Amino acid sequence: MATPYSPGLEGVTAGISAISEVDAERNALIYRGYDIHDLVEHCTFEEVAYLLLYGELPTTREYAAFRQTVVENRNVPEAVLALYRQFPPDTHPMDALRAAVALLAILDPDRHDHSHEANRRKAVRLFAQMPVLVVNGYRILQGQEPITPDPERDHNASFFYLLTGQSPPDLFLRVFNVTQILYAEHGFNASTFAARVTVSTLSDLHSGVVSAIGTLKGPLHGGANEAAMAMLLEIGQASRAAEWVHSALAQKRKIMGFGHREYKRGDERARIVKRYATELGEALGDTRWAEISQVVEDVMLQTRRLYPNLDFPVASAYYLMGIPVPLYTPIFVMSRITGWCAHIMEQLENNRIIRPHSEYNGPRGRKVLPLASRT
Ligand SMILES: CC(C)(COP(=O)(O)OP(=O)(O)OC[C@H]1O[C@@H](n2cnc3c(N)ncnc32)[C@H](O)[C@@H]1OP(=O)(O)O)[C@@H](O)C(=O)NCCC(=O)NCCS
Repeated sequence: MATPYSPGLEGVTAGISAISEVDAERNALIYRGYDIHDLVEHCTFEEVAYLLLYGELPTTREYAAFRQTVVENRNVPEAVLALYRQFPPDTHPMDALRAAVALLAILDPDRHDHSHEANRRKAVRLFAQMPVLVVNGYRILQGQEPITPDPERDHNASFFYLLTGQSPPDLFLRVFNVTQILYAEHGFNASTFAARVTVSTLSDLHSGVVSAIGTLKGPLHGGANEAAMAMLLEIGQASRAAEWVHSALAQKRKIMGFGHREYKRGDERARIVKRYATELGEALGDTRWAEISQVVEDVMLQTRRLYPNLDFPVASAYYLMGIPVPLYTPIFVMSRITGWCAHIMEQLENNRIIRPHSEYNGPRGRKVLPLASRT
């Protein structure tokens, strides 16, 4: 017996998961039992990646071994960089990343092994490779040479080193770490659900990740961080912000980085990152983005009762750190790869093909006319 249709599957419970709990009533987000406030306060992104992929926070020994494995798996096969060299320079980095992961599927040393252990090895490899894929891929699209990762640097520092060839200020690392932790996992969001649907057919882990990347790319999901920055740049100054938002709303445009399917009383992740983005702006002597953002936030709350989601403060935080805008959504992938892979493994541990019902609303009772009689 089919349940009534809910557009966008709003309010539908589509699975059971022990990976994260989105508690919209309390504005809380919990990863495997740990509150995000606790995690951003006390953990590196690598510890949280381990938590998501292995189910527990690592011990000192496990952490050292994990970091060593990550360093050893950072480099991507030359064929992947060669693939990037084939792409037109205006290729969006998310399209390039999707193609790169599809190629990595074919080259993966465990490609014929779909066991849980092999899937975790694949997940750790993809996690380790992401900064190189994202940044060196972007460098190639920009006509620059890739940079060899430095084994002495941790995951986040390695990202900045690949991007700039230098060590970033500690504040950048602290803020980036927080955003990577907060982007890592979020229940049955669209891209995670897409990954679970894909592997529920017993397809492979990389196919699930490719589906997820394609799903994350859209501006209603991960693409919102780039779209939010494009909006802030277009607004340009705080004195223009209110009028800009009113006019966009009057044209029925969506304000990117606002609203959320689950959180109707605000996204706690956005509140956390807003504090860091403000600190960053003050430290750099550039408070323009915080000022514009505050006006946009106030107008959205007053006129639509809509709050910013994580993508809104992240956009200006990344901008202040000098990260190129087309990398914002790929950076989301660098983090969410952990949540996706955790969900893929969880789906496969207790799998049933995800195959919902649709309600037919097309014509009925039509008779086929011979081809020659159809006009
Ligand atoms: C996140 C999002 C897709 C959730 O979608 P949803 O749960 O289906 O909510 P809806 O789109 O039905 O929104 C409900 C109402 O609020 C409005 N609304 C929602 N988000 C809005 C936004 N960012 N700007 C303007 N209006 C918005 C909708 O137009 C709708 O109005 P209506 O009832 O008059 O038609 C939606 O809020 C959105 O598109 N946000 C912008 C993109 C974004 O930031 N995505 C990142 C999500 S983390």
